[in-house]
Amino acid sequence: MRKPIIAGNWKMYKTLAESVSFARELAPRLASFSGVERVVCPTFIALAGVADALRGTEVHVGAQNIHWEAQGAFTSQISPTMLQGLAEYVIIGHSECRAYLNETDETVNKKVKASLAYGLKPIIAVGESLAQNEAGETETFVGGQVRAALAGVDAANMANIVMAYEPIWAIGTGKNATSEVANSIIGGTIRATLAELYGNQIAQSVRIQYGGSVKPSNMTEYMSQPDIDGALVGGASLKVDDFAALVEGAAQAKGV
Ligand code: PGA
Repeated sequence: MRKPIIAGNWKMYKTLAESVSFARELAPRLASFSGVERVVCPTFIALAGVADALRGTEVHVGAQNIHWEAQGAFTSQISPTMLQGLAEYVIIGHSECRAYLNETDETVNKKVKASLAYGLKPIIAVGESLAQNEAGETETFVGGQVRAALAGVDAANMANIVMAYEPIWAIGTGKNATSEVANSIIGGTIRATLAELYGNQIAQSVRIQYGGSVKPSNMTEYMSQPDIDGALVGGASLKVDDFAALVEGAAQAKGV
């Protein structure tokens, strides 16, 4: 069975002090849900503090981006080697990075390979725009993003990869894809593409999250869908009560 995974993407919110105190408050609230993998993704400057605060707990730490080189003259960038020991996961290809930081399918692929090479687990985000959605291009576009992100990635690495379907029009907008639609893209497009690339057994073992305006009130509905294995959550992951409710909802819906 695929272990459900809830990751909080804190984006550009919370100072170092706020992140650390949030992590300290959050960890005991999540302690009893060991059937769900729990991950927080703070900003780079808070990673070390949050990793320290969560040491000895079952809450994992993720970064929100990386560069693909191990080191070099890349002003402002953070390399995968710098994340070793601080983060276990790294979000790659978030639509905000694609939109504002010139992230392309090609850089996503380089980052996926670099993170795997340095022992980080990528959470690869894919998703279509509103225009693509309305033009009926979702399946083709999302399938293409999955193929591009995984070009040259061996089957042996797939156990360390999490995928996230995040329709751009649903992120931070309060609009969300219905759970049926999200499930059908996740199962019928993303998992189906994984099956074409790596065979059905591997495709069935990869965890695929939904993301986009997930909150405590709709969590159970998403998690009740068979192909949705968790959520990548922005806004609702910024409050301890909401984060705890998300994890509890996932545990209940999946019966873990
Ligand atoms: P949201 O963000 O939950 O605030 O819509 C999701 C994300 O960007 O990962």
